[in-house]
Parts: sequence; C-alpha cells; structure tokens
Amino acid sequence: MPSTTSEQLKAEILRLTREYSELMHGANHPGAQRRDPFVPKATSVPYAGRVFDADEVTAAVATTLDFWLTLGPQGAAMEKELAGFLGVKHSLLVNSGSSANLVAFATLTSHKLPAKRRVMPGDEVITVAAGFPTTVAPILQCGAVPVFIDNDPVTGNACVDQLEGAFVEGKTKAVMMAHTLGNPFDLGAVLEFCRKHDLWLIEDNCDALGCTYSMPVERAKQLGFTENSPGIPPSDTHIIRYTGTWGDISTQSFYPPHHLTMGEGGAVNIVHRPPLKSYAESFRDWGRDCWCASGVDNTCGKRFQWQLGELPEGYDHKYIYSHLGYNLKPLDPQAAIGREQLKKLPAFITARKTNWEYLRAGLADLQEFFEFSLPTHATRWHHGGFNWDETGCQTDCSWFGFMLRVRPEAPFTHTSLGRHLDDKKIGNRMLFGGNLLRQPVFVQLRKDRPESFRVAAPLPGADSLMKSAIFLGTYPGLTVEMLDYEIETIRAFTRSHCA
Ligand SMILES: Cc1ncc(COP(=O)(O)O)c(C=O)c1O
Repeated sequence: MPSTTSEQLKAEILRLTREYSELMHGANHPGAQRRDPFVPKATSVPYAGRVFDADEVTAAVATTLDFWLTLGPQGAAMEKELAGFLGVKHSLLVNSGSSANLVAFATLTSHKLPAKRRVMPGDEVITVAAGFPTTVAPILQCGAVPVFIDNDPVTGNACVDQLEGAFVEGKTKAVMMAHTLGNPFDLGAVLEFCRKHDLWLIEDNCDALGCTYSMPVERAKQLGFTENSPGIPPSDTHIIRYTGTWGDISTQSFYPPHHLTMGEGGAVNIVHRPPLKSYAESFRDWGRDCWCASGVDNTCGKRFQWQLGELPEGYDHKYIYSHLGYNLKPLDPQAAIGREQLKKLPAFITARKTNWEYLRAGLADLQEFFEFSLPTHATRWHHGGFNWDETGCQTDCSWFGFMLRVRPEAPFTHTSLGRHLDDKKIGNRMLFGGNLLRQPVFVQLRKDRPESFRVAAPLPGADSLMKSAIFLGTYPGLTVEMLDYEIETIRAFTRSHCA
C-alpha cells in the first residue's frame, strides 16, 4: 500500500473541512439549501453579520496548514485582487478599518512629501461631526487639528456648503470623511474644493465598498477623471466610479458587519499616486524604509549600500526607519478568507441594495413618524427609484444600513423604538457615535486641550442624527421573512402609539 503523502493528507483534511463546514455552517448562507426555519421573536435578526460558506472555511484551513501565518502570498494576491476590483494603483491590507484610517492619515505626514503638501502638527483637516470615531481619531493621534462641519441629517453626510467657511489658508491641508452607511458624500463638491485649495482627500470607504458615484463627463474631466471603474459599462453622459477611487487615499474595513469580512481586517487604497504606497507601507510596517515582502531580502538590490540619516554607510536597509511607524499587518489566513469573500462581493452588493429597497417600500407610508434617508443628490424616493437634483451627479448606494430618523413630533423616540426592536430580537444601531463632540472623549479633550480641535459651524444636523437616527441592517444574510418581520414589527409599534 503506497504511503500517504502530505498532499494527499492535505486534500483529505480539506475535503473533511468542507463537509464539516457545510454541516455546521450551511444554514448561515442565504442560498443554502438547508437553512434553519425562521421563527419570529425567537430567531435573531442581526443588523449585520458574516455571510460565508465552505469556501472561506476551507481557504482558512488550507493556509493555516501551510503555516506561513504572517502576511504573505495570500495577502499579496488579495491586495492585487482588491486593487483590481476597485481600479486603484495599490491596496495594502491592514488589521482593521481603524488601522487603515491611521495608516492613510499618517501617510500624509511623511517627510518624503513636498513641504507644501505634508501635514504637520497643528495643520488642520476638515471632517464631519457625526460618525464613527476612528475616522477622526488619527487626525488627532498624528498631531493635526480636526475641524468639524455639520452633517446633513437626511443623507448623514457632510454639509458641503460649509467647506469654504472651514478653510484657513496655509493651515488646512486635507479633508477626511466617511461615506456614511454606504451613502457616498457629495464627491463633486468636495473634490472641487480640494482641487481649488490643493488639499488631500481621504475617503473613509469602510462602510461603502461597492457604492458608485457618477458625475457628468465634462465636470469629471475637469477634475481629472476620464474612465469608469473596472467592469462598469461606459456611459456617454457620465463617468461612473466606485467610492474610494475619487480621492487620494481611501480605506476599507473587513470587520464582520462590513461588505466583506476577514474577521478583523482592512485596507488602504492608494488611488493614483504610486509613491504614497511606499509611505503607507512604511507606516504599516514598523516605519521601515525597506520595502521587502515578508520573508524576502534585498528587493532593492542594494541592501548593504544605503546611507540614510546619520547611520554609517552600508547599514542593513532592513533595519533603517524613516517614519515613526506601527505594525498593523493582518495574518495571511485572514487574506485567504478575504479572497473568497471578494468573489462573492458583487452578489453581496446587489443583496444590500435589494434589502434597502424592500425595507423602504415596506415602511413607505410611515412618513408621519419617520424621515427616511436619501442617497446624496436624490431629492425624493419613489417605488423603484429616486428623483435627482440639478447637479447631474448621482449615487448608487451599496448600503451598510437602512437609516431613518424618528420625527421630533412622533409619540416615541429612537431609543424607545430601539429598545422595542431589541426585545423582538431585531438588531438595530444608532448612527455610531452620533455627534462625536458630545462624547466623553471630546468633552474631556475640550477641557484638557481646547486647541486640539475646532468646530467650524453650528452642528444641528449632527445633533439631530444623535437624537433621532436609528438603522436596521441591509446585510446579505437577511431573508424576505426577516425583512417582513422587521417591517411588521415597526408598523405594529407605530400603531400601538396611535391607539
Ligand atoms: C466609517 C467607519 N470607519 C472606520 C471604521 C473602523 O473599522 P474597524 O472596526 O475595522 O476598525 C468603522 C467601523 O465600523 C466605520 O464605520
């Protein structure tokens, strides 16, 4: 009898892994043949979660058996595939969306940038008051000053008419903001502002992978865009690109609620300026000057010939540090999972859009209680579509969530609605940190270091979101039964307040 080779053993382990995964996790996948029956009030309806099948589990086990562990071949492949999907120059994997924001911002502080563009301590960066804290934290962590403008409470995005008022000549260096809950912000207005004043734009795309923004061809050309993102058919009238590909740098999160998952994980996308890649990589990888991949030596071909800083000539390039860096790399098995998720991404995006539309239609006649979100540039929702404003720009949202605001005159609050939904096992969330300036951390910062941030305008929109916004999930694991249950539960809740 021939002896069992390692290849045969691995194949057998992976066959069993697949079988195990189908047995254990099969019910997780919306397309799964065997899915646990939905029991209203007993089955949880999460606002988000992992959607995966045996492919992800098998990929994770296969790479773990190979035991490379640190970011390696799977990571390199995923970085290429993600960059290819988006149509950006480079994507760098990191261990979270927060790390992605930190690396993206730190990149702009590199001393290798021209002095005029480099973000120095005390320089200002325009951002938005309501949202997720780690969109803003890196600005402070790197010694720059976040300058807050308000959110439009209907879209959740920046009030772009406040950008000029927030700008200070010689101080403002960048704009860094998120596409809120998968709703692209007004990229036309933000990019024109950035071009006019020669500012960086970091798009926090953590909640928006797969959203597109379309801009009339002439306006896009003036901003330097002539091509659609890969796979998007050409249009005679518009340039259509994914969010995360309009600014200089953008970021992704691959934490489970997001559009795809690696468990923990994220990415920094370098859109079009290749040198930014090596600065970002340096901040991700200890601050080193060397750009060898893990396990590789002497990529530059002159490992012992550099003379940098005040080090002696020939000092090992592997241990030369140009930046005050971090180590924010994910593991290779995470990338193997991410690669499988990436293959499912187009279907995930479609499901998120379909689920949003289903909820919107199902709750349409509850306007008396709720103000529903609109995509940026939309003026009105109607069954199956939107009316659009006069800018000619449009958005196609890959929704992270279905947000509504409870009207001030409604006989209940977003907190009481959230509590009720929780009792009925329906996952719901507020808009992350609400008005971040009301959070304990900023209240303390105002006392400790009042000069560390600036508020450029009154913030009624951010306050309104904090006081009244709530969102449900749109994630691809939701079934029609679950969505119907959510709709009926909300309808019954509003009826109970009218009796
Ligand atoms: C807009 C935004 N940016 C950044 C993050 C941080 O991502 P992570 O949880 O992967 O650190 C999140 C998290 O949900 C987010 O919503």
